[in-house]
Amino acid sequence: MASLPEPLTLDGGSILLRDWRDADAPILEAVCGEWDVCRFTSVPWSYSLVEATAWVTRNREKRSRREVLALAIVEAGGDEVAGNVNLGRFSDDGSRAALGYWLVPGARGRGLASAAARTITNWGFEAMGLRQIELAILPENTPSRRVAERLGATPEGLRPDSHEAGGRWWDMEIYTLHAPDVVARSGR
Ligand SMILES: CC(C)(COP(=O)(O)OP(=O)(O)OC[C@H]1O[C@@H](n2cnc3c(N)ncnc32)[C@H](O)[C@@H]1OP(=O)(O)O)[C@@H](O)C(=O)NCCC(=O)NCCS
Repeated sequence: MASLPEPLTLDGGSILLRDWRDADAPILEAVCGEWDVCRFTSVPWSYSLVEATAWVTRNREKRSRREVLALAIVEAGGDEVAGNVNLGRFSDDGSRAALGYWLVPGARGRGLASAAARTITNWGFEAMGLRQIELAILPENTPSRRVAERLGATPEGLRPDSHEAGGRWWDMEIYTLHAPDVVARSGR
């Protein structure tokens, strides 16, 4: 599998993706304990600066083990972190990965998640040689489903009992993004 370079900065026009820094830890306070963010991610449920900094450190470690590429989303022209976007769960042959994202509440409603997701997935296809990127979304998570649709991801239907979080199994709506050459070939 292609390596996950560090440092990495990706320019997505309205947003910039950059490495998480220890100094960003306080921004996590805005999303710590938020049901939609915490149940499926490693973001701490309760906020303490120690836990938040540990989350940033853990992401760095997972990156060096090539498990997850998590990048901070920053609005163009600013430096405040608006959210996180990540590629992870890489298949052994390096052809498939899963996409995740969240925004702090004040950054939602401006299309930043779509821009960030498009930027990291384009990079995944071009630089990492990925062929497929999957999104698994709770059926009732309308904003996230809209992000998947804006990306042009193909809806694959409900995958029952496919995600374990918070001590139970969840049915997830699956969407797939295909490498640009596949999309061009199929005329999608
Ligand atoms: C999912 C998330 C990243 C989307 O952020 P965003 O880019 O700001 O998305 P928006 O607020 O612009 O919403 C996207 C779409 O959903 C719609 N939407 C937003 N809130 C909605 C609601 N409560 N009910 C119905 N539609 C809603 C918007 O109108 C928009 O639709 P449009 O594309 O037709 O304009 C953000 O809501 C978030 O961080 N949620 C918590 C974490 C999460 O769920 N992550 C994804 C896990 S799979």
